Amino acid sequence: MSLINLVDLPDLGDDRGGLVSIEANKHIPFAVKRVYYIFKTHEDVARGFHAHKELKQLVICVSGSCKMVMDNGISKDDVILNTPKKGLLIDSLVWREMHDFSEDCVLLVLASEYYDESDYIRNYDEFLKKAEP
Ligand code: TYD
Repeated sequence: MSLINLVDLPDLGDDRGGLVSIEANKHIPFAVKRVYYIFKTHEDVARGFHAHKELKQLVICVSGSCKMVMDNGISKDDVILNTPKKGLLIDSLVWREMHDFSEDCVLLVLASEYYDESDYIRNYDEFLKKAEP
């Protein structure tokens, strides 16, 4: 799987407005156990700076924009998220950083597992050791 994996989400919008519907195990390759959203992040703040041992996530920018930096320990790439019609799949063992939040940015995150602090890798050197092929 490439580092930046954008999924086209089903666009059910019509002349009344937008509507996107996402079904677990159909449009995304996992069952969703947790949903959270990040909003009102200050423009000069960057977030993330961690990887997960097992957790997989789909990140959708439902409003505004931000930059996601992805790093699998071998290569690094970034993508601007600015549409509710695409989701960024983040596999396990990917270091992620979020930058350049617009004032109206809302990031909706669908996660494959319940919150578990022991699944986080918050130290970059530790991440590099775990991500080694
Ligand atoms: P964190 O994942 O570090 O935020 P970000 O990646 O956006 O910088 O989460 C911030 C805090 O919230 C941290 O103490 C863990 C806690 N948290 C939960 O309790 N449950 C959750 O589902 C999430 C995502 C975070």
